Amino acid sequence: MRFLITGGAGFIGSNAARRLRAEGHDVLVLDSFLRPASRFNRAWLERLHPEIRFVEADVRDSAALDRVLAEHFDAVLHLAGQVAVTTSILDPLTDWEINALGTFRLLEALRKRHGGAPDRAPLLIYASTNKVYGHLSMGEVLRDGRWDFRDLPQGVSELEPLSFESPYGCSKGAADQYVVDYHRSFGLPTVALRQSCIYGPRQFGEEDQGWVAWFALAAVFGLPITFYGDGLQVRDLLWVDDLVGLYLAAAAAPGKVAGRAYNVGGGPAFRLSLKELMVLLEKKLGRKIPVGSAPTRLGDQPVFYCNVDRAAQDLGWRPRVPPSEGVDRLLAWILESRDEIGRFLARKGLSIATG
Ligand SMILES: NC(=O)c1ccc[n+]([C@@H]2O[C@H](COP(=O)([O-])OP(=O)(O)OC[C@H]3O[C@@H](n4cnc5c(N)ncnc54)[C@H](O)[C@@H]3O)[C@@H](O)[C@H]2O)c1
Repeated sequence: MRFLITGGAGFIGSNAARRLRAEGHDVLVLDSFLRPASRFNRAWLERLHPEIRFVEADVRDSAALDRVLAEHFDAVLHLAGQVAVTTSILDPLTDWEINALGTFRLLEALRKRHGGAPDRAPLLIYASTNKVYGHLSMGEVLRDGRWDFRDLPQGVSELEPLSFESPYGCSKGAADQYVVDYHRSFGLPTVALRQSCIYGPRQFGEEDQGWVAWFALAAVFGLPITFYGDGLQVRDLLWVDDLVGLYLAAAAAPGKVAGRAYNVGGGPAFRLSLKELMVLLEKKLGRKIPVGSAPTRLGDQPVFYCNVDRAAQDLGWRPRVPPSEGVDRLLAWILESRDEIGRFLARKGLSIATG
């Protein structure tokens, strides 16, 4: 199959590009290289798979999208985005332009090219977010030393009302709704995947985004770690390659998924609190890790884990890698990429002993 991956030099995108190419698919990456880590990921992909093609372009640029979409693709993974809630609060306009307008322009480019024969259009797979559900109304309780839903053991399903919160939640949520509607209104094959917390290699975690990778990386290199809030917040963790498996399953079944939205995460079985992750890291690294504290950040849900039954029913997909195994693999990547991560951190004015 032929894939276009917007944001293909990002964390999820580079993992997707590697796996798709390794399985023999044709891959074109479109990325603006907004994130410093994207240059590192591009160099890594070029070393592994020189056949992967790259276009340096912005998803807000309609002319660039038209040029790229002149080629035939079977599926478009739309991952390009402004990804941090904190950044969206500092600069809501840019956040809106990249996430909402950029997605809209991509949908319009697809409609312009394929509106006359939407059944021949590539499937647009959109990397949406669980933030579209905002602060959930069912209430939370402290249970077994971490936050939990009062009465929702299977987690949040797609039937939960949408409630966008924070500029990031609004820009991603608007894009999510446009994606679903372009199937309803124009018949284009589109699907929104509302992703929970994704983690894995090539995620150069930062304090404001990618907390699992950031905690692991900071713990290994002795950088300061802060809990915003009580540290008992809970998320379901999904190993990045499990997510890419779902992208592949969706791309193979466009008729099944078109016009739908799916919650995609580790589900109830693969959830962890911030503190539990630290305990896991301490056990694996064999030492105590100091942690500071600060007030809760806007848009930070005390608990979120999703119900993945819809993806299981439609596509036979289930998360496979449990957090304990995923954290082992993540630590292995961090340790073997010490020099590369050191160069990345140095760009941010942080230094670690590399060697
Ligand atoms: N990582 C997660 O846990 C998670 C959870 C939910 C949703 N998502 C969504 O998944 C997608 C990928 O996330 P990620 O973690 O790989 O982030 P990332 O920051 O590593 O990757 C995003 C990529 O998009 C590129 N990009 C940004 N703005 C662009 C623009 N205007 N034009 C073209 N490229 C642009 C960046 O350079 C980067 O390479 C994002 O849309 C994000 O909102 C991620």
